[in-house]
Amino acid sequence: MDPAVWIEESLAAAVAETGGPDCPPILAAAIRHAVFPGGGRLRPRLCLAVAMACGKGDAEAALTAASAIEIIHCASLVHDDLPCFDNAETRRGLPSVQAAYGPAIAVLAGDAMIVLAFETLARGLVKRPQALGRLVSIVGRAAGAPYGITAGQAFESEPVIDTALYHRAKTGALFAAASEAGAAACGAPSTPWRNLGSFLGEAYQVADDIRDVAGSAEDLGKPIGIDARLGRPSAVRDMGIPDAIRKLDMLVESAIDSVPLCPGRERMHDLIRHEASRFLPEKLSRRAA
Ligand code: IPE
Ligand code: IPE
Ligand code: MG
Ligand code: MG
Repeated sequence: MDPAVWIEESLAAAVAETGGPDCPPILAAAIRHAVFPGGGRLRPRLCLAVAMACGKGDAEAALTAASAIEIIHCASLVHDDLPCFDNAETRRGLPSVQAAYGPAIAVLAGDAMIVLAFETLARGLVKRPQALGRLVSIVGRAAGAPYGITAGQAFESEPVIDTALYHRAKTGALFAAASEAGAAACGAPSTPWRNLGSFLGEAYQVADDIRDVAGSAEDLGKPIGIDARLGRPSAVRDMGIPDAIRKLDMLVESAIDSVPLCPGRERMHDLIRHEASRFLPEKLSRRAA
């Protein structure tokens, strides 16, 4: 079966745990809205790709980790769109959760989803306590502080912000967790895989900064111009679009170089190049050349 289908089915099973007759229906609907339909599903696809590249192990464990990471990502978007952060009305071409259900439900839906991610790990890995311990630690590091999304979003409240540090925490950390989790789910050492996700995630956030200036809300399914409107640190603000594109390309090359020796190394290189070629609309990727 296609890994994209596995991911959707695994997410549907995880989200079903929050539904049922005992759940407040508006909260249940908001959680579904946050997860389906998905966006690029980049992080779970990275997790599964690393598991395959490691060439051994337990596909079910990798899928559990991939789903938990995507649920954390979706929760981070629900919170990011809140009025107290980016105050965004649209996400993935639909009303954001806060626009559709109100900020109070959006706070609670995000909270419930973060908890659900860890419950998903616990349920899926009940027979593999050692993998469970490693994955809880990998995912927790990426979600919290000092290295994870919570810290990343908190940098926005600081008077002085290092853009690269901000990008690594708010976006790189979860990509790093995705690549580490793919290895850990296979019983392979995970730390050697951290740089791949970290570079790739930072590259993806640089691309998002460029799209925020040069993309269209219609193509992206979310508002543009937010970084400038809210005075957010951004690669484009720091260095302009041409240098930001060069930085993006360098980060992707670093990601490729960082892939550890493994049975699927060449395939992983091709996959990174292919995915990264779609980070920007074609007309922009050619401009730095
Ligand atoms: C959006 O991430 C937030 C950033 C880190 C830029 P994605 O672009 O991966 O969001 P979806 O899941 O595809 O909507
Ligand atoms: C989102 O960053 C990263 C998160 C941790 C949620 P942005 O605010 O730049 O992402 P978009 O552009 O809203 O998707
Ligand atoms: Mg934001
Ligand atoms: Mg935002």
